[in-house]
Amino acid sequence: MLLEHRHLLGIAELNAGEINTILDLAENYIEMNREPQRKGNRLKGRTVVNLFFEVSTRTRASFELAAMRLGADVINMDAEASSFRKGETLIDTAMTLNAMHIDVLVVRHPASGAVKLLSDKVNCSVINAGDGQHEHPTQALLDALAMRRRKKKLEGLNVVICGDVLHSRVARSNIFLLNKLGAQVRVVAPYTLLPRDVAQLGCEVHTRMETGLKNADIIMMLRLQKERMEGAFIPSAREYFHFFGLDRKKLAYAKPDALIMHPGPMNRGVEIDSEVADDIQRSMILEQVELGVAVRMACLDLLSRPLQRAGLAEAAQ
Ligand code: NCD
Repeated sequence: MLLEHRHLLGIAELNAGEINTILDLAENYIEMNREPQRKGNRLKGRTVVNLFFEVSTRTRASFELAAMRLGADVINMDAEASSFRKGETLIDTAMTLNAMHIDVLVVRHPASGAVKLLSDKVNCSVINAGDGQHEHPTQALLDALAMRRRKKKLEGLNVVICGDVLHSRVARSNIFLLNKLGAQVRVVAPYTLLPRDVAQLGCEVHTRMETGLKNADIIMMLRLQKERMEGAFIPSAREYFHFFGLDRKKLAYAKPDALIMHPGPMNRGVEIDSEVADDIQRSMILEQVELGVAVRMACLDLLSRPLQRAGLAEAAQ
């Protein structure tokens, strides 16, 4: 199976085979990351630049670690500290970096579509690390890897995504991916936090946790993305927690072995109670973080080898 793309902009443009290629390769990197000697040389001599126009902890740190563990040279550009502040456009910033012969540009930007726009102007590979409310492909890939490892397969799984679906690129990328790999997706949120066309994305829509969580194998909680809200979408955080926050009582609506996920950052006591977030039997939240490094290694690896964009068989050698 070949990965026929120069860029990784969204799950929407990948097919099931390509998704599985990335996940299979990431499995190998999980093992490597657990070894005391974690440094490979697959990307030796290559340069990866992280260009973030929005705050990030996990995504940025894991792209940096992933690149370093593959032996690449990596620099992190904080948009706040770059010439962007002096009025340079996004495209000019990207073309400037591109002129330094970089190989991969990892970009996070608050505007949906900005990463695609930029990818048309540069000749390095571009990875979307989150663009506005649009897509966050590596998050969906790491979530899929986490689910696949624990539940053995994605096909037929009942995955319920709860919370601020309206503003969530994580939800969109997950819905696309889970549909492609045969899982059943449900979303649960108050009407005000659901996109108008959400059912057309390929999911069942619920507005009550009690019905929405029934038979769930996986419960994915989302943060209220206040930075993307204009005006009030919920009466109060307290009331939101009462109706939509995941606690022991609501967890009991799901299957007894249902697992809890969250892309982070969590707002404890708003969308999730600490008791369930920290339950090591049920919560996969830190495992998601661990797998995030492996998935990003797989993506960097596959995109950095244009002549061989190999996929698992060759990459695993
Ligand atoms: C998410 C994001 O930035 O889209 N975080 C992440 O990358 N792990 C979700 C969020 O910010 O709530």
